[in-house]
Amino acid sequence: MAKYLVTGAAGFIGSSLVRALLDRGEQVRGIDNFSTGRRDNLTEVIQRMDFREADILDLDAMHKACEGVDYVLHQAAIPSVPKSVLDPVGSNRANADGTLNVLVAARDAKVKRVVYAASSSVYGDKPTLPKHEAMSPDPISPYAVAKLASEFYMVCFYRCYGLQTVCLRYFNIFGPRQDPSSPYSGVLAKFSTQMLRGEHPTIFGDGETSRDFTFIDNAVSANLLACSAPAQECAGRVFNCATGRRITLNETFEAMKKLTGFHGKVNYEPERSGDIKHSLADITLAQKHLGYKVLVNFEDGLRRTVEWYKSQAKAVSA
Ligand code: UD1
Repeated sequence: MAKYLVTGAAGFIGSSLVRALLDRGEQVRGIDNFSTGRRDNLTEVIQRMDFREADILDLDAMHKACEGVDYVLHQAAIPSVPKSVLDPVGSNRANADGTLNVLVAARDAKVKRVVYAASSSVYGDKPTLPKHEAMSPDPISPYAVAKLASEFYMVCFYRCYGLQTVCLRYFNIFGPRQDPSSPYSGVLAKFSTQMLRGEHPTIFGDGETSRDFTFIDNAVSANLLACSAPAQECAGRVFNCATGRRITLNETFEAMKKLTGFHGKVNYEPERSGDIKHSLADITLAQKHLGYKVLVNFEDGLRRTVEWYKSQAKAVSA
């Protein structure tokens, strides 16, 4: 049994990792400052873990959180492109300064490995598809810049201090527990709740924007593989975490009409600043070095996601 620290444990991805680790019988410590995470996400598991309310910007708290830990899964972030356009300083604090603190604390505590929630946004808007890890990054939003700075810190901590680090560039992770309630929420969480309530969703742009939407189980599996893969395969490296398929927002809306029973129309509004038009991953590197496989495809993931939001709506109205 190993000891894991999940930062951002009350968030969508963090809380999914906590559950998967507890299911495997691992020891789990989690921290969250509840800036975007929600206590509800941990309701039935919080008694089985060591949860601490703490901020990754608090180096003292991070030193304590890393004591006795084998693996850190660093998910804490303010995960929004438009929010970073409005508040680049706040985005940088959480997404870059916070990561540096996590790394310093992990290095001092002699943690075995740190796995980082990196972002496909670092590729920017170059037309070449699919995106592969050897392409030079070209961030077009403050969020992407901060995520890229964190990646560089990850790699540099391996080179300077020998701390094993692995970066997973997430491509639009979606699934149960993704918060639908903020204007900055992920598009599939927003569409699910809006369409189930009979509200008209909004597409920013012409709807031909495409994403490599990746169901949460795939991201959880990538994190576990990134902890167990031999160091020579993955330490100090960056991997795409995705499915290798892309779907447009218009196609997504049509698929969700069937799943939600929504019969209305979608509103079209101008594209958001900082948005990337197309995103699609080459996942060869993760397959080769981490043994990564796509466990759940887009259609099954979307069905499971809509079912979950339906069950939440029923629980509220009961
Ligand atoms: C998402 C993640 C980000 C991650 C990146 C790469 C979220 C909130 N952001 O960014 O953390 O690093 O993927 O994996 O999960 N859109 C609409 N209508 C809406 C909301 C969004 O049309 O109501 C559009 C957006 O303008 C964008 C696309 O849908 O074109 C996806 O947006 P979003 O879900 O916010 O994700 P990304 O910005 O791609």
